[in-house]
Amino acid sequence: MNNKPIGIFDSGVGGLTVLREIERLMPGEHIIYLGDTARVPYGNKSKSTIIKFSTENILFLLKKKVKIVVVACNTASSLALDYLQGIFSVPILGVIEAGANKALAVSQTKKVGIIGTRSTIGSGSYEKALVKRDKTLKVYSQSCPLFVPLVEEGIVEGKIAKSIIAMYLEHLRLKGVDTLILGCTHYPLLKKEIGAYLRNVRIVDSAQEVALHAKTVLAENDLLNHSKSVGRKEFYVTDESKGFTKLARLFLQRNISKPKIVNHV
Ligand code: DGL
Repeated sequence: MNNKPIGIFDSGVGGLTVLREIERLMPGEHIIYLGDTARVPYGNKSKSTIIKFSTENILFLLKKKVKIVVVACNTASSLALDYLQGIFSVPILGVIEAGANKALAVSQTKKVGIIGTRSTIGSGSYEKALVKRDKTLKVYSQSCPLFVPLVEEGIVEGKIAKSIIAMYLEHLRLKGVDTLILGCTHYPLLKKEIGAYLRNVRIVDSAQEVALHAKTVLAENDLLNHSKSVGRKEFYVTDESKGFTKLARLFLQRNISKPKIVNHV
């Protein structure tokens, strides 16, 4: 059982930020990554569509005999996690709870900002997770729909990135948030510029937090792979892979093996 892989899925390439953190923390684990590149983006789609896509993604991962599933996509975690946890028996983790816990732990002023896709922000998932834990929190949300294409174009710093960041985040700055949750797979790549704009604000990267959470869940279930050799990584996509491999380099700072194309629908 411990030798079985961890399954990760995302709407596309962005979930590699989660894979990166998981492999840093648990180098011996085998990982199966599925990017639903045929149907990306999820960030502007409805709940029923996200549930359908996510269910199909997990069915694919289960065929690969994964021991745990990490929903790397914030949009899928926001809209489909409860449903998925209700129908599958394998442990399924999302990014929302982990990010919310961390924000709560680090915020001093109790003013927390959240940024994400339209669907994530529209779902109120982070807000609910935060306020459930502390009713005195003030939560300010902002969807940043241009951030995903920006990152996918490789524009993660410089004039254009700075001005789009300022356009979206001015409101949060004026509110005086002391903590900001990066509620989207792509946003960790903008961390440097976001940090430069929101000085002295603690930036919570959900990818890092979910990796820690995954390790805890695996340890609790005695499922950790303690192998000393580096785990196998397999990449699957649902559409043509050229752009994926190129973007993967940006997200992981290294080359990956060519992803296999699957038609899992
Ligand atoms: N992976 C998505 C998320 O974290 C961003 C990309 C998309 O919209 O599909 O919300």
